[in-house]
Amino acid sequence: MTVSVIVPAAGSGTRLGESVPKAFVDLGGRTILEICVAGIVEAAVADTVIVVVPADLIDDARRLVPDAVVVAGGAHRSESVRAGIEASGRNSDIVLVHDAARPLTPPAMFARVVDAVQAGHPAVVPGLPVADTLKQIDPDISGPAPERVVRTVDRELLRAIQTPQGFTRAALAQAHADDSGLATDDAGLAERCGIPVHVVPGDPLAFKITTPWDLRIARDIVAAEST
Ligand code: CTP
Ligand code: MG
Repeated sequence: MTVSVIVPAAGSGTRLGESVPKAFVDLGGRTILEICVAGIVEAAVADTVIVVVPADLIDDARRLVPDAVVVAGGAHRSESVRAGIEASGRNSDIVLVHDAARPLTPPAMFARVVDAVQAGHPAVVPGLPVADTLKQIDPDISGPAPERVVRTVDRELLRAIQTPQGFTRAALAQAHADDSGLATDDAGLAERCGIPVHVVPGDPLAFKITTPWDLRIARDIVAAEST
């Protein structure tokens, strides 16, 4: 089976607040993008890696990850993924989508996701149990007053979803054929068109670098690994 991995890396990293887009931020001597692609290569599941970056950083990305196909992304994550799907062509049987912003994802997770798709599941996501107690609040939020709790959610039935998310080529194409822009991940689009989505075990190291706090933790982990 032929496997492609699409790496959406075209976001600006607004919540991170660094001077360069998030994928180009340094993490102990290498960019987030370089570390992410090196992890995918180490996993040895991909025939092709397609990296989607801001249009003005295509040349920089080609220098950083010379073995990847590099294309320009769009204004929203799902548009960037669709640019990756187009670049992946019709040759892949299985397509993984993996956020550049999760550079410390253990290589074994890629094989876990590919294996589950190969076993016959059209859409597979890694997920972790939720540790915190979760409460739903009243959506009618007005002013600075404390939010009102409506109920406590049963966390035993919830999973925090990560990437890489794996799909048959047909399932990913169908999921993205009608994107009204609401889903925050690719499996969400698949669910909306009735494609069954299955969860395999995730890993805490696959956390997404979103805020300065996450970047600090990622830098500490990289520094600890290199000593
Ligand atoms: N992404 C993308 N194209 C976009 C937006 C996001 O390829 N137009 C990618 C990001 O580069 C990231 C992944 O999707 O690897 C997850 O998105 P997120 O963590 O939200 O990153 P950003 O959008 O860059 O961050 P922010 O939302 O804080 O601006
Ligand atoms: Mg974003």
